[in-house]
Order: sequence, then C-alpha cells, then structure tokens
Amino acid sequence: MTLRPLSRIKKTTMRRNIVHPGAGKLKYEIREIVAFARELDRWNIPITWENIGDPVKKGEPVADWIKAIVSAKAGEDNSYAYSETEGAREAREFLADRVNRREKIVSPGKDDGGYPNPVTISPEDILFFNGLGDAVAKVFGFLRREARVLGPSPAYSTLSSAEAAHSGYEHLTYRLDPERNWMPDLSDVEFKVKYNDSIAGILLINPDNPTGAVYPVEVLREFVRIAGTYGLFIVCDETYANIIYGGAQTAALSQIIADVPGLALRSLSKEVPWPGARCGWAEVYNRKVDHRFDLYIRSLVDAKRLEVCSTSLPQLCIPAIMGDPRYAGHLTWRAAMFEGRAEEAAAAFTNIPGVSLVKPRGALYATAVFDPAVMEDEKKALARFLPVSDPSLGEFIKEKTAAVASDKAFVYWLLASTGICVVPLSGFASDLPGFRFTLLEYDDEKRRRIYKNMAESAEKYLNSR
Ligand SMILES: Cc1ncc(COP(=O)(O)O)c(C=O)c1O
Repeated sequence: MTLRPLSRIKKTTMRRNIVHPGAGKLKYEIREIVAFARELDRWNIPITWENIGDPVKKGEPVADWIKAIVSAKAGEDNSYAYSETEGAREAREFLADRVNRREKIVSPGKDDGGYPNPVTISPEDILFFNGLGDAVAKVFGFLRREARVLGPSPAYSTLSSAEAAHSGYEHLTYRLDPERNWMPDLSDVEFKVKYNDSIAGILLINPDNPTGAVYPVEVLREFVRIAGTYGLFIVCDETYANIIYGGAQTAALSQIIADVPGLALRSLSKEVPWPGARCGWAEVYNRKVDHRFDLYIRSLVDAKRLEVCSTSLPQLCIPAIMGDPRYAGHLTWRAAMFEGRAEEAAAAFTNIPGVSLVKPRGALYATAVFDPAVMEDEKKALARFLPVSDPSLGEFIKEKTAAVASDKAFVYWLLASTGICVVPLSGFASDLPGFRFTLLEYDDEKRRRIYKNMAESAEKYLNSR
C-alpha cells in the first residue's frame, strides 16, 4: 500500500460539533485574575495574592502535631495503596460516627423548639472525593440535564459554574442581601421554586464564600421547609463549618434536615488546613426516602468507581487528626484568629462613602460592595483610575478596562496601582459590583497594610473623576 503524503490529503472541517453546550460556562475568576496579574510582570510589579483561599500559601504554619501524624501515616505501606471506591473504611466509620453524635437543636427557652432529631447515617453514606472541586463536578455533572439547582448569588464560582455547565444555561440564583448581613431572600427562593418546576434542588453554602455569612438555624429550617414542600433535595456546602466566629450560631444540615434528601460537602482543605491534600467528602442524608435520589447517589459512587478511588493518604489521616484531643483547641484558636482579622477588615472599610463591608462571621473572606448607584454609570466608571507608576501601564490598564464589568475595572486598577490581587464580585455570579479578599495573610503588619491600602484605593477610585 502506498501512503499519500499528508500534504496531499484533502482536509475537511470537523464533521461534528464537539463542544459541550455548557463549555463557555466554566468560569473561575479566582484563578483567571492570576493570568492578568502575570501580565504586569512587564512593569515589575510585585503581586500580593489576596485572591486564593489557601491559608498555607499565605503563611499559616501547619501545626507540628498534624505534620507528625501525616509523617507517621506516610510511613505505612497501606497509605500507598488504593482505598475502597467510597473511601477508606476507617475514615468513613470515623466521620459517620461524628455525624451521628451531632446534637438535637433546642431553641432557648422552649422545650424542643420544634426542631427535628438529627439524621443518623452509616459509613455507606459517606463518599470521598479528590477535594470538593471533584465532588462538585460530579454532583452537578451526573444530575439529569434538565434538573436545575437554585443557588446563591453571589456564589463560590466552582458551584455556580458547575451548575450552569451541567444545564447549558445561566445558573439560577436566589439573592443574598448585603443590607441584611447577606442573609438569603427566602421569599425569592420560594417564588423561584414555586414557579419554575425544573428546579430539583437548592444549594446553600454555610458559612458562605464569598460573603462570610453564617445562617441562623431558622434560616436553614426555612430552606428545609421549602425543599420538603416542593419535593427538592438540598446540597449544603459545609467547607467552613468549623470556621465560625463572632458569636454566630448555626447548625449542620444533618441537624435540621429531618426527612428531606440532602448532601453536605466537607473538606480538609480549609480547617486543617491542607488544601493540597485534595480531600473532601459528601455526607448523604435520607438516601432511601426517594428511589430516584438513591439512584442519583449510586451514580456518583459509580462515577468514582471509574476512577477507582480518591487519594488514600489524607483519608487515612482523618481519624488521627480529627480525633486528636488537640483538634478542638486548634479549631477554636483558628476561629479566634479569623475573628480578629474580620474585625480589622471591617474597621478598614468603615465610613467610606460608596463602599460597604459586612463583617464576616465565618469562612476566610470579606466582600466589599460598591454602591451600585455610584458604579452603574459605565462612562463614569471608565473615567475612573488609580495612579500608577508608569504612563505605559496606565495606558495598558485603560485599554484592558474598556469593556469589562465596573468592579473588574477597579480590580485591574488596584493591581496596577498597588499590586494587590483581589477578585471582582461579578466573578461570583453576582450583579453587585464589589470585590472579595481573604483574611489569610499571616503577617499581622502586612495584612493591616493590605486592608488599609485596599480601602484607601476604593475611596480614591470612587473620587477619581
Ligand atoms: C465554598 C467552597 N466549596 C468548595 C471549595 C473547594 O474546596 P476543595 O479544596 O476541597 O476542593 C472551596 C474552596 O475554596 C469553597 O470555598
């Protein structure tokens, strides 16, 4: 057989469109902004990374006793083996036991407050993933295409993007209200659920990223009531469940979900902290109350089975780390640390006309919101600027901000002017102009300087016309 040279083969365009309908919906501004920050290398601007929620990268030392546990586990051959698809048995037994020990919520001054008994689960109701990023991809990726999940706005973009990509449409959202400490607008939730029967589930993030809100038990109970009334399941992202401060009171989903089907998502990333472990898990509640929910959960396990399992070592460390008598004190110490930083962030942004910041009460972030009325006039927004070191940098930023959301324009100018890299709120499925930064900088002096610098820049930006 004589082969024709490749140059003589007539090429046609690809005969099928191979692009997934949700392809354009995968947005992760938290890291996309990094590519832009890198472009500023040309002007030798040192960058202060305030965009990514990695406590270790921001200087928090990992506790020696935790490192010792991980080192010891790394010395065992078993840590190098595959684990069961659902996750290492001893880790799932340990976590299921912890869920089953959660207490019933009692209203102060009432007998039982009308709250249900917490659900109990078995190790089979725990499923490990390679970080919650993996969990989120599967939770939404294996949902029937036309089954929608209503989520918060603003929202952590992995969740909102995954839902949008799974459906091929814009993510459906309910409003978190900055005027009411970022509490969810529950009438908006119920209205949307009632009049859109494609909604099959509700997503909540508690404590919330990016707002730092922590939902009181009554709010969680309302979500459960709505889900129960309209036949929905609940996904509750509890990544930050052990990072709550400022006197905030809340509950785990398992404590108030009663007999509604649901999933809680938890992770080692932020509370140990060990984000590089890529280790998170889903706790499944009331799997058997609806056979379709059960089949859906089975599809998540089957999907994991195709990958064999998630990474073994971090799972095997869980009983030793979380079961250690020092762990509770470790969590309390960290919560107090973030409370102090939340105070600092809030103090830096007080009394700046046109910008507000609700003091976070959980998680690792604070969100500043520009008064939409001040930012809404695009032409005025384009005329705004912050002083930069080099006129060519000013021209570059002017060009880059010509066709972006007004809060993104601020974020670009902030980067060029101060080197501080934050994330525009428009990157969190939100119409509100603002930006999110972290409470993570470990160096106290540096952190205070960053907050002061950001607040002064926001003020200068609003006045620059
Ligand atoms: C609300 C929320 N969910 C999930 C994740 C992902 O965490 P993991 O490191 O477990 O993938 C994050 C990370 O920032 C988060 O903020």
